[in-house]
This record gives sequence, C-alpha cells and structure tokens, in this order.
Amino acid sequence: METITDFQQQIELALKNKKYGSNPKELYEPIEYIMSLGGKRMRPVFVFVGCDFFGGDTSNAIHPALAIELFHNFTLVHDDIMDKAPLRRNQSTVHEKWDENTAILSGDAIMIKAYQELCKYNTDILPQLLKIFSNTAIKVCEGQQLDMNFEKLAKVSIPQYLKMIELKTAVLLGGSLEMGALIGGADEINAQLLYEFGKHIGIAFQLQDDILDVYADTEKFGKQKGGDIVSNKKTYLLLKAMEMADSNRYLKEELHQWIHAPQFVPKEKVEAITSIYNFLNIKELARNEMKKHYDTALTFLENIPVNKMKKENLITIADSLMVREV
Ligand code: IPE
Ligand code: IPE
Ligand code: MG
Ligand code: MG
Ligand code: MG
Repeated sequence: METITDFQQQIELALKNKKYGSNPKELYEPIEYIMSLGGKRMRPVFVFVGCDFFGGDTSNAIHPALAIELFHNFTLVHDDIMDKAPLRRNQSTVHEKWDENTAILSGDAIMIKAYQELCKYNTDILPQLLKIFSNTAIKVCEGQQLDMNFEKLAKVSIPQYLKMIELKTAVLLGGSLEMGALIGGADEINAQLLYEFGKHIGIAFQLQDDILDVYADTEKFGKQKGGDIVSNKKTYLLLKAMEMADSNRYLKEELHQWIHAPQFVPKEKVEAITSIYNFLNIKELARNEMKKHYDTALTFLENIPVNKMKKENLITIADSLMVREV
C-alpha cells in the first residue's frame, strides 16, 4: 500500500517537470514561484488516495491531481491579496514580492492552467470530473465572499461560520477525494460517501487553521501570526469569545473596542485578543469543535464496502495532513 510520502513525491516530481510558459515573464515567474514553494500537497494526495481506495491505478490520476493543486494555489494567491497577508509558506506572498495587479493576473492564469491540466485526463468520465471541479470552484468563491462579508458584520452565528468554511475550504478537500474515487472506479454513491468524509475533514482542517493562526509558531506555520485577529475575521475563536463575553460587561466592552478601533498597533490588538481567548479557554473549545467534525467524518467511511486496511491507511493519511505544528 502506498504511503503519503510516495504520493507526495510523485506529485512534487510531476510539478517540478511542469512548464508554465516564459513570456511575458511578469505573468509566468509568479506562477513558477508559488508552485515551487511547496506546501503539503494535501489536495492532490487526496485525489491519489481516493483513487487508490477503490483499487484504481494512481498513475491515471496525476493530471486531475495537479489540476486541483493548481486551483488551490490560485485561491491562495488571491486569498493573500484579500487578507493582506505578507507571508505564505514562509516566503513573501506574490502580491508583496511583485504587486497586486501581477498577483491578480498570474492567479487568473493559474486557474486557467488548472482547467488545461484537468482536460489532459481525456477519458469518458472527463465531463463528470469537469462538473465536480467547476461546482467545487464556484463554491470556494462563494465561501471566500462570505468570509469577506463577515469581516464587516457585527453578528455572525456559529452555523453561519461553519457553512462559510465548508464552502471556502472543505468542499475542495471533499471534491479531491470524490474525483479520485471516480477515477479509481467507484460508483457515484461511494464517491459521494468519500466526498462527505473529505468535507468533514475539511471543516476540522479549517477550524485547526483558525486555531493555528493565533497559536502557531510563525516559522513552522509559515504565515503571519494573528492575521485573522487584525482583520476581524469571524473565526470560531472570535465568535465563541464574543458569545461568552456577552455575560461579562468588561470583556464585552474590551472586545468591542478592539473590533471597532479605527486605528491600532497590530501587535497590541493581537496580544489583547489572544489574552481574552486564553482567559476564556477558547483554544480548547475550538479543539473540541474540531474533534466533533473529525469524528463525523469517520462515520461516512463506515458504509463504504472497502477493506479495513484501506480505511486505516486513509485515516492515517488524513491524520498526518491534519497534524500541523502548533
Ligand atoms: C491553506 O491550505 C488554505 C486553507 C484552506 C487553510 P494548506 O494549509 O493546505 O496550504 P499548503 O498548500 O499546504 O501551503
Ligand atoms: C483560506 O482560508 C481559504 C482559501 C484559500 C480558499 P484562510 O484565509 O484562513 O487561509 P490561509 O490561512 O490564508 O492559508
Ligand atoms: Mg482568507
Ligand atoms: Mg488567508
Ligand atoms: Mg487561515
């Protein structure tokens, strides 16, 4: 049985051999740059795992797997503009290294490359894959817009937050497994069960990302610490803190002031809000919520008629992608 490292190596090699274009260099250099910065390659690994899970030959899955990794990188380039993020995978973001216009256009081009890559999988299930890919992609955009809308909203409920992260993050993880499953020969019902597994893993994954944004070591996480706090992202942590502070006049006022402050020193805001989180034990609560979604994910594996060893391998792979440094 193939391990996550086998899959990651195959993906890295295929990406290394990929040529995107050279002229004009301002369009192609940022593409080379972001694609070569590494990352976990979680989504293409999921395409491979989904295929392997149903006994398919993973060498068939390489083009759809790369297509999803390209799409993911497109979302990161644009997400970093939207989130004003200076760091990605421990390096400057594309819009910092070049400028915003360059990041917009090279991001667009990465998305087009993603479709071209998918179309190389020229089989009779290509229309089905294109449909899943496009439906997933538009949901990611919907999630990203909700994420931006929520920054400005005073009240967002936890169910609204969960729906937003399902769209911006979880459907792509689910869609990666679903596409892999179909390539591996699964029927639609089983592919759908694997999609649900991936979707719930994805919700847990984004909850963890929100925790790490506050609590991770910057070096290991590779992103700016506290970026979500600075931009008033309605993360689970902030929403839970707001909910709990509702019965404490002092905390409620302090949170309100920081969220509405027209000007502030970013480091001071991050420290103040983190202290509130610590006081309310928010990290633990977010972890519990994460665990809930992780457990839900597992229930979708129960009804798939695949042997126990394959399921254990899938869970091991999902776990090792979930475990990120704090
Ligand atoms: C970052 O995804 C965006 C989120 C959905 C949180 P990853 O954490 O998978 O990023 P890379 O590709 O490994 O850098
Ligand atoms: C990102 O969510 C989701 C997408 C890129 C679609 P975040 O904004 O939390 O991701 P990071 O933390 O910047 O990687
Ligand atoms: Mg974002
Ligand atoms: Mg971001
Ligand atoms: Mg984040």
